[in-house]
Amino acid sequence: MPAPAAAAHAKLGRMDAIHRLAARLRRARHILVLTGAGISAESGIATFRDAQDGLWARFRPEDLATPEAFRRDPALVWRWYAWRREQVAAAQPNAAHRALVELAQRRPTTLVTQNVDDLHQRAGSTDAICLHGSIMRSICSVTRLEISADWLAAQTGEPPRSPHHADGLARPGVVWFGENLPADALERAAAAARDCDAVLAIGTSALVYPAAGLPALAQRHGAWFAEINPQPTPLTATADLVVAQAAGLALPAALAAWEDP
Ligand code: OAD
Repeated sequence: MPAPAAAAHAKLGRMDAIHRLAARLRRARHILVLTGAGISAESGIATFRDAQDGLWARFRPEDLATPEAFRRDPALVWRWYAWRREQVAAAQPNAAHRALVELAQRRPTTLVTQNVDDLHQRAGSTDAICLHGSIMRSICSVTRLEISADWLAAQTGEPPRSPHHADGLARPGVVWFGENLPADALERAAAAARDCDAVLAIGTSALVYPAAGLPALAQRHGAWFAEINPQPTPLTATADLVVAQAAGLALPAALAAWEDP
């Protein structure tokens, strides 16, 4: 027998799901939004786990996204992130990023993202909580202090040396596998999960913790939970509403349906 949300998912047509989403968000007191790589897919940025062109289908995370990988071959890791940084810099926020800016103008919203691409901020989200850092920043491999773009521009190394420590190298300002998330960001995200009355998971495979645990934390504190993702995830069966559509369609449609009866 299917879980209740899976049954609802199967029965609901596209516009039914959008109307239910709009109606629930309209009466929300505090919305928590958790985003993942899928929200930037329509900006042309590869996700991690898409079977065809996801980054982890083409590259091994243990070669590129761990502290050990950086110690082993800092130049390889630096160049891989420089390549991704160029793609992100050339991309533009899409309709889903912009819709979340508008949602926050309509209802108190806490935006928590696993993305490192800064597209939420470039769309106009002013206080997004970035659980996995930012690919546009570089930090010292020893002290974790931020390294200015001016310093980096004047250096030649791959990676450049750090100005903050004699043994330090510049490294991307992202969280790697095996590293802790920034404690203040995680605590603010968890506090929002405990306080919100509606939580949306958008464009995340919900496989990487602790981020993937936020919807369940919110649900334990009584929140209603909707997932926006064309593909099922481990959270799908626990959702009160599943909108199996691209975020760039679903979110603007929900805002457009806001006043519908
Ligand atoms: P994934 O690549 O694991 O998942 C992307 C999700 O987005 C999938 O479930 C897709 O079905 C969905 N998706 C694709 N296109 C979409 C669209 N247009 N609208 C809505 N959803 C869409 O990315 P994350 O869940 O973000 O960690 O991955 C989590 C973490 O794993 C990342 O932050 C990164 C990665 O390793 C670090 O870098 C530390």
